[in-house]
Amino acid sequence: MPTTKRLSIGCASLILGIVVAGGAYAGPLDTPGATKALTCSACHGFGGNSPSDTMPILAGMSPAFFKKAIQDYAAGKRPSPEMELYSKMVLEFGLDDVAAYFASQKRQPTPIRVDAAAVARGKAASVQCVICHGPEGKGDPTRFIAIPDLTGQPPGYLKNQMLLFKGERRSPGDETLKALKALMREIPEETFSDLAAYYSSLR
Ligand code: HEC
Ligand code: HEC
Repeated sequence: MPTTKRLSIGCASLILGIVVAGGAYAGPLDTPGATKALTCSACHGFGGNSPSDTMPILAGMSPAFFKKAIQDYAAGKRPSPEMELYSKMVLEFGLDDVAAYFASQKRQPTPIRVDAAAVARGKAASVQCVICHGPEGKGDPTRFIAIPDLTGQPPGYLKNQMLLFKGERRSPGDETLKALKALMREIPEETFSDLAAYYSSLR
């Protein structure tokens, strides 16, 4: 009995030694996706909390929407000169790991400030969006086509994506996004600014 006990203690410390030597538990970057995600921080901010007005925040993004976006970029369905290469890199790294890493990061809302009057106008215009993005703008990752959370995203990014939808430049020809694009075509550009201000201000 004492021999077995000593043996198992010996085994445990051996395993621990290997784990530490391998650096598997080396601190905050210890999740499988974290080291792989470092290349993304140049544009999307550390931990996916983009400080810029044009780069989307990835922190706290639902894995379902994240994965769809990466797959669409990699397949050339959602054209982006920046993301085509990086999306293929994510597929090589392991889509599930990278998606899980960003989903686990706490979203810090954009630091970009917006005008209160624009937020109020945007809130009024957002009644058209509620059916899909929900009354609080949080989206719904469980839908057949995952609906993104718009809250706290940079206003410049949100407005630009609406313009891309309207001009049939985001996912051109995608039948599944027909209703969304038809709606965007009816909305004037200045209302996009208001909607972007409103959604970026939500927490
Ligand atoms: C050179 C800058 C750059 C780098 C590096 C970069 N991205 Fe991006 N990313 C962008 C831009 C610009 C967009 C918006 C493109 C568009 O208009 O669709 C974007 C969009 C995305 C989106 C879609 C977000 C949304 O709300 O629809 C995801 C997901 C994403 N990037 C993940 C990544 C990951 C993961 C990495 C690292 C492997 C990465 N990106 C590296 C510039 C970059
Ligand atoms: C019929 C459902 C539907 C309606 C209505 C709708 N959306 Fe969306 N929206 C979506 C879906 C689905 C996506 C994700 C598209 C994809 O997979 O690329 C999306 C994406 C977006 C994006 C890009 C977000 C990102 O992170 O890439 C913005 C911005 C947006 N919607 C704003 C709006 C606004 C503002 C309204 C109201 C004027 C609206 N949407 C109405 C379904 C809808």
